[in-house]
Amino acid sequence: MQDKIQQITEGFEAEISAVKDLKMLEELRLQYLSKKGLVSVLLEEFKQLPVDQKKELGQVVNKMKNQIQDRFNSVKTELEESGSVTDEFIDLSLPGRKKNIGTKHILTQTLDEIKDIFRVLGFSVQEGPELESDYYNFEALNFAPDHPARDMQDTFFVNEKFVLRTHTSPVQIRLMEEKKPPIRAIMPGKVYRNEAVSAKSYCLFHQVEGLYIDTDVTFAELKGMLISFVKQFFGEDTPYRFRKSFFPFTEPSAEMDIWWQPSGKEGRWMEILGCGMVDPNVLKNVGIDPEIYSGYAFGMGVERTAMRKYGIDDIRVFFDNDKRFLVQF
Ligand code: PHE
Repeated sequence: MQDKIQQITEGFEAEISAVKDLKMLEELRLQYLSKKGLVSVLLEEFKQLPVDQKKELGQVVNKMKNQIQDRFNSVKTELEESGSVTDEFIDLSLPGRKKNIGTKHILTQTLDEIKDIFRVLGFSVQEGPELESDYYNFEALNFAPDHPARDMQDTFFVNEKFVLRTHTSPVQIRLMEEKKPPIRAIMPGKVYRNEAVSAKSYCLFHQVEGLYIDTDVTFAELKGMLISFVKQFFGEDTPYRFRKSFFPFTEPSAEMDIWWQPSGKEGRWMEILGCGMVDPNVLKNVGIDPEIYSGYAFGMGVERTAMRKYGIDDIRVFFDNDKRFLVQF
């Protein structure tokens, strides 16, 4: 019997060393470990032995059985983990499958870029609600109830008291009510205007508001900061100019243009932002003493800025969600 045990052990070892895949392993299992396999038959024979021989051989038989089972199990896991490569044919010359990874919307990318530039210039980022009361959207910003400047903003009225904000300037008010100067922040967000939709205007767009309040803030600082922004965003050699303008909440006020030269077309000046020194009335409305503090504010349209930078001539494409447009960025 001992000879037999040795034979089986050695035979099994020789065969399992030659096993290359799960199919061969299964054949080996049938041959050794199944009900009629060599190991099971030997165990049957062992059971028939007289008691004294059983005692003598018990350990050896057990050891053989366990050894074969363990070896079988470990080869099995090994083959399963390696995916039993020889079973299936893999054509390594096939091209890979391309994964379609989305990108950030061009407006988000533009906004990120604007935020990064202002962050370095020392501005934090603040946000405010899109549904605003008449007070924040107009009154606190020095639009008198019958002020003709209200006509500048084609407003969506939700009811008598509330509007969809027509600009991000109300966030200035909220911020100045909350914090004491010095304040230096930009305020990005969506704004709404009740205008006829065309290539040039849409009922919804994005603005970035900027505000700096401290002692002795000057118009020269405002200009210097905006010029620095334009150079970083549009390029060092971008021609720019300031024109005087009017906003109820700034005095004096200006608009900034940059020279736009679309390829193959005539170049022209294009407005990119409004700006000015915060009107003393606005400071009074939020309880900041205009005798001590002064400040500047500016507001730019994100769509317009992106349109100038990337040569896009229709604002509606930002909102159509047409993949042919979106994948270009
Ligand atoms: N809120 C103005 C607009 O929507 C832009 C602006 C902001 C102008 C801040 C001056 C200062 O047109």
